[in-house]
This record gives sequence, C-alpha cells and structure tokens, in this order.
Amino acid sequence: MELSAPIVDHLATAVLMLDPSRQVAYANSAAEQLFGLGQRRMRGCTLSELYQHLSVDAHTLNSALGSNQLQTLYALALATHDGQHHTIDLSISPLPQQQILIEARAIDQQQRISEELQQYAQHHAAQLLVRGLAHEIKNPLGGLRGAAQLLQMELQDNELTEFTQIIIEQADRLRNLVDRLLGPQYPGQWQLGNVHRLLESSSQLCQLESHGQIEIERDYDPSIPDFLMDPAQLEQALLNIMRNGCQAMQQQGTLRLRSRSHGAMTIAGTRHRQVVALSIRDSGPGIAREIRDTLFYPMVTDKADGSGLGLSIAQNIVSQHQGRIDVDSWPGHTEFTLYLPLRFKESL
Ligand SMILES: Nc1ncnc2c1ncn2[C@@H]1O[C@H](COP(=O)(O)OP(=O)(O)O)[C@@H](O)[C@H]1O
Ligand SMILES: [Mg+2]
Repeated sequence: MELSAPIVDHLATAVLMLDPSRQVAYANSAAEQLFGLGQRRMRGCTLSELYQHLSVDAHTLNSALGSNQLQTLYALALATHDGQHHTIDLSISPLPQQQILIEARAIDQQQRISEELQQYAQHHAAQLLVRGLAHEIKNPLGGLRGAAQLLQMELQDNELTEFTQIIIEQADRLRNLVDRLLGPQYPGQWQLGNVHRLLESSSQLCQLESHGQIEIERDYDPSIPDFLMDPAQLEQALLNIMRNGCQAMQQQGTLRLRSRSHGAMTIAGTRHRQVVALSIRDSGPGIAREIRDTLFYPMVTDKADGSGLGLSIAQNIVSQHQGRIDVDSWPGHTEFTLYLPLRFKESL
C-alpha cells in the first residue's frame, strides 16, 4: 500500500511506515520534527534507533508491533537524539502486506498544563495543611516551654532542672521542625541578583560535599541580566535541587547547569514578558516512580535519613518568585528546570 505522501506530509501527527522487516520505509515531516532526524536518516532504521529513550519496555513494544489490531500506548516519555523530550501517545496499526503504520502524537502541551495545575494544587494543599498544623502545634508548644521555664526557676534542685531542660530543648527542636516545614517566610530580601553567581556558589558547595567526584558542566547564557530576587533564598532552592542530584548519582557523575532566556511565558495564570530557565540535570538513576506524583510534598523522601523537605522548600521559594519548577526524569537523566520571571522593579 502506498501512502499518499503529499497529504500525509501535511499532517500535524508524526507518521511512520515500517516495512515487513520493521524498518522505516517512510516518515512524514511531522515525524522528522518530532524525532529531530531527516527523512533520509530515518529510512532503514528500526523504531528504537530513532530515539534515545522511550518509556516502554521492548517486550510491550514488540508485541504491539506484532499485533494484528490497532494498539495505542499512552503517555510515553520520549527523549530524542537531539536532546528534546516529549510525552507522546503512540498508535500502531497493521497495514496489508505486513507493513506497519505508526502515529505519534505529542501531548506535551495539555499534559504540561495539567501537570502545572496539579503541581499548584498540590503545593497549595500542602501549604494549607502545614500552616494549619504549624499553628496548632506552635501555640501549645509555646505554653509548654513557658511553663517549663517557670518551673525551672522555682526548682532548687539541680538534678530536677535537668528534666525541665529536656522539655525546653525538645520544645525548641519541635519548633524548629515546624519552622522548617513552613519554609522561608515572605517577604524576603528583594534585590538585584545574578543567577550565574548563585549557580556557581551552590554547585561549588555540592562539589565540596561530594569530595570532588562530581563533574560540573556549565552552559550559561551570559546575556541574562541581573534581576529582582531574594538571592539567599534562591541559592537555597538551587542547592536543595543540586544536592538531590549529587546524592542520586551517589557522589559520582555529571551535573549539568544551564541557563537560557525563555521569552514570554504564562505561569499560574500570569503572563510574564521575559522568563529565564535554569536547569539542573544529573546523570543519576532517575526519580522513583512511586514518589513522582508527590515529589514536592513536604516529608516525601525515599532516603533513610532524608527529611523530604528539600523540594518542598525549593518549590516554596520559586513560587514566591512567581516562578515554577518543571521535572523531567528517566534513568540516566533527571532535570529540574526553574522558570523565573525577570523583574526589575518591585511591584508589590
Ligand atoms: N535528582 C534526583 N534524582 C532522583 N531522585 C530525586 C532527585 N531529586 C529528588 N529526588 C527524590 O525526591 C525525594 C524528595 O527530595 P527532597 O524533598 O529533597 O527530600 P530528601 O532529599 O530529604 O529526600 C528524594 O528522597 C528522592 O527520592
Ligand atoms: Mg533533598
């Protein structure tokens, strides 16, 4: 069967046709765009040669290719050879003479928007919960600590003050935990700051912590101007993310830092004329599937000694900068991207 190339070429959906030996016989222009490869380069390749990674195991893919009915694989993560990543739905249908028709639809746009909304809803719910709890805990805690202090002053016996001291110390510990859960409180110290300086200082700290085993690659856009931020807090956010990366790589691997001007972008319903994207990528094993959906909740961790607060605090700080955080992760590649609107004058 011949596909009518001129028409198929105009489809927005990526279309591939495989010959009976499952090699690409035809690819339309949308497929060239999606995979970042020219028609000629793709011809004769097997499907798996067209990309770096596709989140489906070989067995499932092969049985879909061998099936005599239409099969659709939903929401697969695709990483192409030119470093792009997309979420795609892949439909595979058998054609006469053992040819196979493959359609790949990028669903990034919708998916991203719903992920973004979900992230906001999640963040908001977590914040409410934490604030409510913090309030309920802090008040009685203050009373408890005050009473222990009074008691301590009344006590003549040194042996007994040891106990009141314990009450006071433990109350302080609990208060610190609650404060950390709440994260840095608004308003911060707004001033013009330089993102590259922050990336440098936090990555140096990370490298020190990992005893120099981590390689750091930089790809900075030097034209990014200084803009209004709380530098200390933003550095904390970057450090929390980098630290996770270094820990995930078990102190060995490559941390790639990248900065880009992103142009206009709408974040949480507000349109910003200019946004910078800072991405931090590690070559570790990727984020465990079980925690992907709750990654930014406080106390979500899969480390024995983890607090699970790093990302929740980072998220908090980035939201206060009216920005957002994106995550892309598969084995060997975990990338957190911070989008921060450029502001030069305080408009609060
Ligand atoms: N770069 C990464 N690679 C793999 N997993 C990650 C990465 N960053 C975060 N995670 C996962 O997210 C969890 C939460 O991170 P975080 O909030 O910083 O808490 P903690 O580091 O204390 O566990 C981590 O326990 C880890 O499972
Ligand atoms: Mg952490």
